This record gives sequence, structure tokens and C-alpha cells, in this order.
Amino acid sequence: MIVPDGFSDIPAGKIAAVVTHLEMTERPPRRADPPGAWGLRKAEPPMLDWYRDLYRRVGEDWLWCSRTRLGDSELAAIVHSPLVEVYALVVDDSDEGLLELDFRQAGQCELGYFGVTAKLIGSGAARFLMNRALEIAWSRDVSRVWVHTCTFDHPSAVAFYQRSGFRAFRRQIEVADDPRMDGTAPRDAARHVAVIG
Ligand SMILES: CC(C)(COP(=O)(O)OP(=O)(O)OC[C@H]1O[C@@H](n2cnc3c(N)ncnc32)[C@H](O)[C@@H]1OP(=O)(O)O)[C@@H](O)C(=O)NCCC(=O)NCCS
Repeated sequence: MIVPDGFSDIPAGKIAAVVTHLEMTERPPRRADPPGAWGLRKAEPPMLDWYRDLYRRVGEDWLWCSRTRLGDSELAAIVHSPLVEVYALVVDDSDEGLLELDFRQAGQCELGYFGVTAKLIGSGAARFLMNRALEIAWSRDVSRVWVHTCTFDHPSAVAFYQRSGFRAFRRQIEVADDPRMDGTAPRDAARHVAVIG
């Protein structure tokens, strides 16, 4: 479908975002780790309740909901895949960041999910996590690492990814059910995206 120029109505109960896809095809220059007492822990395997809790704490305010809507077997099929790796950023023994590396496409790594909890935004923790993400991704037999972000995500995300070495190559519109209208997310989540109705 071609989206026409100008304003387009979005159906009631739906939300719409502009998605930016970014990629890198060679290992980027290494960026400095900011000072901070962070650690990285691989979840082997990620327990589903643990995963859902961290996914919610990192992503709920950015309307991450595709994983929230999955049942146990659907979620396990992804996060228990031997080609999907889930890591937590650890601070003071608490898991406060989510990194999901998806190697299911041969020769490629998708940063499936990447983010830190609200209290760590702007603290340098995300740079620490990205440095680890790129070290792990490029230590494997890949020729491309990619990620997508959307206008529901934190407004720093695109520039952060570009500074990390990703280059934007594609833009899309994504339309989805508003998770706050069907109980998937609390009504007051993501105040930067108005609930209509
Ligand atoms: C989008 C997001 C990843 C951006 O991260 P951020 O919190 O702005 O990033 P950080 O604070 O870790 O780092 C930003 C910069 O500040 C620097 N910085 C931050 N604190 C610092 C400190 N104390 N000392 C030195 N440098 C510091 C970092 O080194 C980094 O510099 P660089 O980018 O030039 O290398 C983060 O906001 C986030 O996780 N948001 C929620 C989820 C989300 O939207 N995820 C993206 C969706 S795909």
C-alpha cells in the first residue's frame, strides 16, 4: 500500500508510529564506556515471567507490547530459540536493561529489543549496553547488524543508534491496536502518545 501525502486517519482504537530501520555492515569504531558500576548477565534460558517483567519495566512507557500479547508457547518459541540471546543490564543486583540479539537470519544480527529502565536513561548505562551488544554481535559470523526504532520510543533513540554506527536505510508507518485500550498496558502508560476515546 502506498501511504498518500498529507494527513491520513487512523482507525479508532489504533495507534500509528513512524518506524526507522538502521543497519551497519561493518564493525564500528569502539566508543568509550561511561563510568558506572554496570554488569551484563546472559539469561540462560530466560524465564518467561522474568522476561515479561523486564520487558514491561523497560518498554511499557514506550508502548512495547508485541511480546506482552504473546502466550507462553509463542514467547518461548522466540526467546528460547538457540539463535536468540537475551541479556540483562545489572545494577546493584537488579536487572534494569534488556538486550535481545536475534541471529535467526543467517549472517545477520537484529537488536530485537534494546533499552534501559527509566531511572537509567541518560546515565551512560545504555552506552555500556550498546558497547556489549556490538561486541557480542560482531564476535559472531555476521556481516550485518540492524535495528529498528519508532516514534513511540525515547526521542534520543535514533541519534543514539546513529552515534553507535548505525545508518538509517528505511522508513515505515506501523499501525497497531492501542495496548492501553485492551488492557495490555495501563491506561496511563506512554503519556507522550495520547489515548483517543
Ligand atoms: C534510547 C536510549 C537507548 C538512549 O540512551 P541514553 O540513556 O540517552 O544513553 P546514555 O545516557 O547511556 O548515553 C548517551 C551518551 O551520554 C554519555 N554519558 C551519559 N552519562 C555519562 C557520564 N556519566 N559520563 C560520561 N558520559 C556519559 C554516553 O557516553 C553517551 O555518549 P555517546 O552516545 O556519545 O557515546 C535510552 O533512552 C532507552 O533505553 N530508552 C528506553 C527504551 C527505548 O526507547 N529504547 C530504544 C528503542 S529501540
